[in-house]
Order: sequence, then C-alpha cells, then structure tokens
Amino acid sequence: MNRREFLKVSYMAGLTVFLSGCGLSAMADEKKVGAVIPEKGSVSGGRNMKIVVVNSSPHSDSESTSKYLSSRFVDGAKSAGHEVFVFDAANADTHPCRGCDSCGMDGPCIFKDDIENTLMPKMLEADLLVLVTPLYYYGMSAQLKTIVDRFYSRTGKLHGKKSIIMATAYNSADWTMEALSQHYDTLVRYMEWQDVGQVWATGCGARPLVEKSEFADMSYKIGANL
Ligand SMILES: Cc1cc2nc3c(=O)[nH]c(=O)nc-3n(C[C@H](O)[C@H](O)[C@H](O)COP(=O)(O)O)c2cc1C
Repeated sequence: MNRREFLKVSYMAGLTVFLSGCGLSAMADEKKVGAVIPEKGSVSGGRNMKIVVVNSSPHSDSESTSKYLSSRFVDGAKSAGHEVFVFDAANADTHPCRGCDSCGMDGPCIFKDDIENTLMPKMLEADLLVLVTPLYYYGMSAQLKTIVDRFYSRTGKLHGKKSIIMATAYNSADWTMEALSQHYDTLVRYMEWQDVGQVWATGCGARPLVEKSEFADMSYKIGANL
C-alpha cells in the first residue's frame, strides 16, 4: 500500500469511526473485531496464575491506547487474585535476534539485555503470556516483534503456555486486524500455546476513543474472568 492508499483507507476509516462510534461499525467477525472473552474461571480453574504482560507501544502510559487496555486487563486479573508482571518492551534494553544460533534454540542468548535477564525468566515461569501491541502497518509493532523473535532461544521451554493478544488500531474496517490475527493464530500453533482471549480494538487510534470504547470493559473482564 502506498502512502496515498494508506491515507485514503485511513480517511475512510476515520469517517466510519465518526459515523458509527469506536469499533462498533464492524462486529461481523468476533475473531478480528471485538473481543474473545473466556468464561469465568475457565482458564485458571480457580487457582492463581502467573501472568506476563508485554506492552510494546512507544507512547507514554497516559497517551497509549494499547497500554490503557492492558492496564484494564491487569486490574481485572489482579482483582481475581492473579500475579502480574508487566514488561515495557518499547523502553527496555532490547536487541533483535541476530540468528547466530549460539543458543541452539534452547539456551542462553548472547545478549545480556532486559529480555534475557528480566523478561525471559518471568516468561519461563509464567502460566499466561499477554502480547499487547498497536497495529503498525497491519502487523505487530517492531518492539513486540523483537520480543517474539527472541523466543527463539527458548522455543521448546515456552511451549504449553496460555496466551492472550490485545491490539489497538486507528482503522475500523472489518479487515483491519486480519493479518495480525492470522499471524497470532500461527504463532499460537507453532508455540503450542492455548489462546484464551483476544481484544481487537479497531477504531481506537487515540486515547479518548479507547477510553470510551467497549474494549476497556472487555479487557477488564478478560482479566477478571481468568
Ligand atoms: C508507524 C505506525 C503505523 C501504523 N499503522 C497502522 C495501520 O496499519 N493500521 C491502523 O489502523 N493504524 C495504524 N497506526 C495507528 C495506531 O495503530 C493507533 O494509533 C494505535 O491506537 C496506537 O496505539 P498506542 O497508543 O498504544 O501506541 C499506525 C501508527 C503508527 C505510528
């Protein structure tokens, strides 16, 4: 998509938001627009879980749309007694995988950064991983992809986790989250994870929109229902 097409799509999406309200215009496919919320207690079976939330927006806590939704999720999860660790991928010391294979997909990474020293130990002991991203050119942010590629050093050890994805976007067309949704499904399949919740917050390109959207309560409910 060239810049002109992107602007045209963005304009049309903006018009849709204006006419129909945040994210309400296209609830046709629950998997790509809206949210998938677990039944109360169905994920944890009533026990307290260890949860790792990976935020990836470079926006500040008070401006970010995706971090707003993840904070609502965290509030819900804590209200249900779960232990939550939040990692700020956009401001942490991180490095993209170099593909050197010195880890052999099952060992320490050559980088001794915040991913290796802080996030990875938390992820390895977690029951549930929550990937949070603004939609960037119809995929996840580079900040989140950097984390995902570093799964390489512990791919097998990260098998069997439960997972959630939360994404925010400016556009509200029903195909907005299609590519990211497919990527997430494939990641879940490859990592042998169990998907337990999804938030696809279309039409939420700015903080006031997401705060008044239905996605805020949906995010809280996913956490509280775990
Ligand atoms: C580099 C960049 C790429 C973006 N690409 C898209 C896109 O492909 N589709 C879309 O709907 N919004 C796109 N957006 C808008 C963001 O997804 C949207 O503003 C989101 O709410 C930002 O979330 P945050 O505040 O948590 O960072 C883009 C924004 C940036 C900065």
